[in-house]
Amino acid sequence: MYAIVAVSKNWGIGRNNALLFSIPEDMKYFREMTAGKTIIMGRNTLESFPNGAPLKNRRNIIISTNEDYKVEGAEIVHSPAQALELLSDLPEDEVYVVGGSEVYRAMLPFCEKAFVTKVLKSSEADRFFPDLDSLSDWKLAQVSEEKEHEGLKYRFCVYERI
Ligand SMILES: NC(=O)c1ccc[n+]([C@@H]2O[C@H](COP(=O)([O-])OP(=O)(O)OC[C@H]3O[C@@H](n4cnc5c(N)ncnc54)[C@H](OP(=O)(O)O)[C@@H]3O)[C@@H](O)[C@H]2O)c1
Repeated sequence: MYAIVAVSKNWGIGRNNALLFSIPEDMKYFREMTAGKTIIMGRNTLESFPNGAPLKNRRNIIISTNEDYKVEGAEIVHSPAQALELLSDLPEDEVYVVGGSEVYRAMLPFCEKAFVTKVLKSSEADRFFPDLDSLSDWKLAQVSEEKEHEGLKYRFCVYERI
């Protein structure tokens, strides 16, 4: 299982249930990495999408404590353990954890890699991803060249579990 996330310099990922940045090349990267795969997300992240709709061309798994929660085009599970059980037969590169902060935190111990788009600017956020640079069981394995969109500099990074 892998995680994919875009973070600010201070590892912020969102504010007011929305993303901090909109970088077309990062959106494209996300689409390409997760196309045809299974994605796992929390209810807040699903509800942050346009019309609160699951993403097309992917198997969408939503985590919610609400036993009555139903969404057309998605499978609902009620705990990280239930998600892991449902996906236990899939190869690790078939499953992407796509947020938000609660679900990243719960699923990171089961992720082998994290694809992190690092925006090189701090931003006011109310949701964060764990700072992988400070965790001894993760290492930065790949870093892209510096890219820029409308003055915002960023890099595509890959972290691996040691
Ligand atoms: N930068 C990025 O790459 C990125 C990616 C995704 C999201 N985001 C941002 O992250 C923010 C949303 O993150 P968030 O932390 O507020 O929400 P979230 O993780 O998307 O969803 C939280 C909800 O998921 C359910 N949940 C989480 N852990 C659970 C558990 N252990 N057992 C059962 N249900 C569980 C609960 O739903 P119920 O309340 O229904 O029980 C909980 O309220 C937004 O700002 C979004 O834009 C950023």
